[in-house]
Amino acid sequence: MANILIFDSGMGGLSVYREVHRALPAHQYFYLFDNACFPYGELGEARLVERVLELLTAFVPDHNVDIVVIACNTASTHVLPALRERLHIPVVGVVPAIKPAAAYCRSQGLNHIGLLATPGTVSRSYTAELVQSFAADMRVSMLGTTELVKMAEDKLAGQAVDMIRLTRILAPWRSDDGPHALVLGCTHFPLLADELSQCLPRAQLVDSGQAIARRVASLLLQTPAAGQMHQQSVPGRLYCTELTEKAKTQAGAFAREGFAALECLVI
Ligand code: DGL
Repeated sequence: MANILIFDSGMGGLSVYREVHRALPAHQYFYLFDNACFPYGELGEARLVERVLELLTAFVPDHNVDIVVIACNTASTHVLPALRERLHIPVVGVVPAIKPAAAYCRSQGLNHIGLLATPGTVSRSYTAELVQSFAADMRVSMLGTTELVKMAEDKLAGQAVDMIRLTRILAPWRSDDGPHALVLGCTHFPLLADELSQCLPRAQLVDSGQAIARRVASLLLQTPAAGQMHQQSVPGRLYCTELTEKAKTQAGAFAREGFAALECLVI
């Protein structure tokens, strides 16, 4: 049984956890969310690197983590090189699914990709390189929104999604000219998949969740601890960085997925 850490600024990594856990149920999962510094999409790049290194270089050895999944596009598009230098275990990142979206469009004879992500992710040079490498022949429009990240958090805390607000955020794409493929370039956004589809009915939603699960599965084949399988899945362990009332409410969504009570990380 391997110890697998899923890390995000907030609840978005739950969409990645679901895919990884569905593919690989018999492991010990840790979910750490940095609510003290949420939202990451508004943090400067230097601060983001410093913060993620601070947390993970403490958490990983303390919990004998075998594999880390940075279930956050905003962090993965900038922090991975520094993190891989400091952690001597596999680190899997989640980056916008531009390549599969371009493949989908090409296969359908379509040409417009919309990248829905955080302000941080849409401004990264890494993102520009992804587009250049995999979708240079496509029209790619980008929309960076923290408002939508917060709406996904609120949905998990039990609030109804305000469809009028959502329609306003997506207004630039609600025309005959809107995207054919919509890349959910923030792990919070698959949590709003139904609402996004209602608002942009012709767009094919594309995210990285299943690809991440396949990547973790292939890395586990090289992880000695993964060989000793448990027959039953064990409760996941959930950590925040600030024990707020909101975090306690959000923990309910994790309890429904088999996680134990919320703990606060002290570093
Ligand atoms: N879930 C995150 C992502 O995939 C970040 C949201 C945020 O903290 O801004 O980018």
